[in-house]
Amino acid sequence: MSAQLINHACDFVLFGARGDLAMRKLFPALYQLHRAGLLHSDTRLIGVARNESTQEEFIEAVQATLKRYVKPAEYDEGSWEGFSKRLHYLKVEMTKAADYKQITRFAEGSSNTLVNYLSTPPALFADICKNLHLSGAIQPNTRIIIEKPIGHDLESSKEINDTVAQYFKEEQVYRIDHYLGKETVQNLIALRFANNLFGSQWNQNYIDHVQITVAETVGIEGRWGYYDKVGQMRDMVQNHVLQLLCMVAMDPPSQLTADGIRDEKLKVLRALRPITAENVARRAVRGQYTAGAVGGAACPGYKEEEGSSGRSNTETFVALRANIDNWRWASVPFYIRTGKRMATRMAEIVIVYKNQPHYIFDPKQKSMVTNKLIIRLQPDEGIRLQVVTKEQSLDKGMALQSRGLNLNFSEGQEGVRTPEAYERLILEAMRGNQSLFVRRDEIEASWRWCDELIKAWDESGDQVKPYPAGSWGPIGSIALIERDGRSWHE
Ligand code: BG6
Repeated sequence: MSAQLINHACDFVLFGARGDLAMRKLFPALYQLHRAGLLHSDTRLIGVARNESTQEEFIEAVQATLKRYVKPAEYDEGSWEGFSKRLHYLKVEMTKAADYKQITRFAEGSSNTLVNYLSTPPALFADICKNLHLSGAIQPNTRIIIEKPIGHDLESSKEINDTVAQYFKEEQVYRIDHYLGKETVQNLIALRFANNLFGSQWNQNYIDHVQITVAETVGIEGRWGYYDKVGQMRDMVQNHVLQLLCMVAMDPPSQLTADGIRDEKLKVLRALRPITAENVARRAVRGQYTAGAVGGAACPGYKEEEGSSGRSNTETFVALRANIDNWRWASVPFYIRTGKRMATRMAEIVIVYKNQPHYIFDPKQKSMVTNKLIIRLQPDEGIRLQVVTKEQSLDKGMALQSRGLNLNFSEGQEGVRTPEAYERLILEAMRGNQSLFVRRDEIEASWRWCDELIKAWDESGDQVKPYPAGSWGPIGSIALIERDGRSWHE
């Protein structure tokens, strides 16, 4: 077994244990890890929050959340029984140094690795780090997991990173981007680097362009206060979408280590060509949804959402054309689109291959001869290679057809559940494997590029373009790709 696959005994301290993320995602993920036998028998889970709860009330709340968010078939009393024994609750006022003594007292006499998960607003990170330090809880093997938003621009992200760095070395810091925990995103590494068929042709000689779509049907889910200051560029592109782009575009690392992978991703981020005020109108489109219907249900427009001030120029949709200025990707555009309240929930990466240099079939069939590799992340996970074959018949001559070679990950794995991203991420943080976490320099390089684009929008006075809820975004996003003689993969 590689060192990274050892499940160490940990004291997993969850700050913000009564919050929405903890209840909806983190406890269900921890429960699944327990149920799969992936938590060390001595691992303890310590919920930390400022709520006046007893240990019993806390355990009851966790049980209620599991019953709500874990599929009935995956919840069983036997597993719950064992899981509940791991749970502890500490009432801590995050800003009060004296309260942190409870954590050190709890950990006294145990050799468990302390893993702190900060499921709190970033405004509390400084206090939590400082108080953990003052209470003497931080050892060389102590870890800290932090969530987005890590800043709203380069400067504020540096501030957060500087604060954390005062108390933790980079090897102790685990920055979550939950897209990196998705099964297919991890599979991209296997697909690209374990298959010479794809690996050998993964460059500008063979690939015409790449499309990345992350479409959501949800709106802003009652988060106007947060979202209106952020918008889709900061909420989705700066982190999740650029991480996907890096996984597609990076060079093979010489070794499959955390820094090997992160060094390569960083090079991609640094090679992104800036989008500036001069070219932003042709390279990027912002949209905002208006009233419409998704899946047959009527939805209000963004400005009519709960909590709205009724006025906003915040984008809920972004489409853009990114270019990576290096040898592998010279002149290969990456078209990106992501939005809320779109027609269907779907995330996929499409690699569109170049056509043959000389075409010999019926010209009417020309549009059919494009090979595409479609890598689907959600709602289902799988890979499909679109290939061209001859239609079977005696009388149609060399009539062509485009067919898909499908690799459905769940096929042949019946009964094997696809783990949620947070399960993988928590497990790997407990194992001390940083490869699924984002390094400081990656976050900062990504902000640098996004800041420039956001500034370009501001400087050019760009107004969001309306699109009806339940559509594929503003018309401008179609023009963005069609101007280049290409079209979005449907
Ligand atoms: C979050 C964003 O990071 O990712 C949300 O803040 C978004 O706005 C969510 O809805 C999407 O995640 P997923 O896994 O459902 O695609």
